[in-house]
Amino acid sequence: MSKADFVRVMFNDISHKYDLLNDVLSVGTHRLWKRSFVKRILAQRPGTALDCATGTGDIAFQLKAGIPGEVVGIDFSEKMIDHALERAKTASQKVSFRVADIMNLPFPDKAFDVSSISFGIRNVENLDKGLSELGRVSKAVYILEFGQPKSKLFSRLYFSLLRLYVPLFGLISKRGDAYEYLIASSEKFPSDQKFLEIFRRNTNFKTYGSIPVFGGIAYIYFAKD
Ligand SMILES: C[S@@+](CC[C@H](N)C(=O)[O-])C[C@H]1O[C@@H](n2cnc3c(N)ncnc32)[C@H](O)[C@@H]1O
Repeated sequence: MSKADFVRVMFNDISHKYDLLNDVLSVGTHRLWKRSFVKRILAQRPGTALDCATGTGDIAFQLKAGIPGEVVGIDFSEKMIDHALERAKTASQKVSFRVADIMNLPFPDKAFDVSSISFGIRNVENLDKGLSELGRVSKAVYILEFGQPKSKLFSRLYFSLLRLYVPLFGLISKRGDAYEYLIASSEKFPSDQKFLEIFRRNTNFKTYGSIPVFGGIAYIYFAKD
């Protein structure tokens, strides 16, 4: 099974508990991180946005609250999109959701003022291609992703705690491997300057930046002109 198939099936399988598990697993902090991520994007005053790997649509709905034009959310997990569409029925913000793969985005060049991706880029099968697609379809790219804390001591403590705590949630979701995957993929995913180097190599913007969140457990990356 390819990494893409593994990831898609896994997110289909946990989609019904995804929002609940996010809240429990992060003790609610994912909401604060997402809010701060969206605030930075909205400060650029984009007129349109594409939220990739949107999951159940958290970022897309928050973006739409501050964006006058079209906001689109895409994900390659059909079940995650089903949940986003279900939320859209009662949401005050009008967002369009559709199934699509980041590796081959069905949009013309520079179709959106901004593209965003929150806790998704780590999962794409080919990071170079994923980043180049995000850069192709938009005039600015914002990424929120797990990384490794800057302090070695904090990093060791954080990943040890995660290894103790996270498998419990695998039991609840009946996909223990999903949460093992979360730790393994976060522990080795390039972060901060290493990520920026890859980001620069695959896109063509004037300004790049990296902002650590909570000591580097996660990072906000951006690229814009
Ligand atoms: C951890 S969830 C993040 C969901 C949401 N952005 C959030 O922050 O809560 C990762 C999402 O990435 C999606 N994903 C992974 N690879 C993808 C790809 N190549 N194309 C589209 N979606 C993808 C998965 O289906 C999953 O919904």
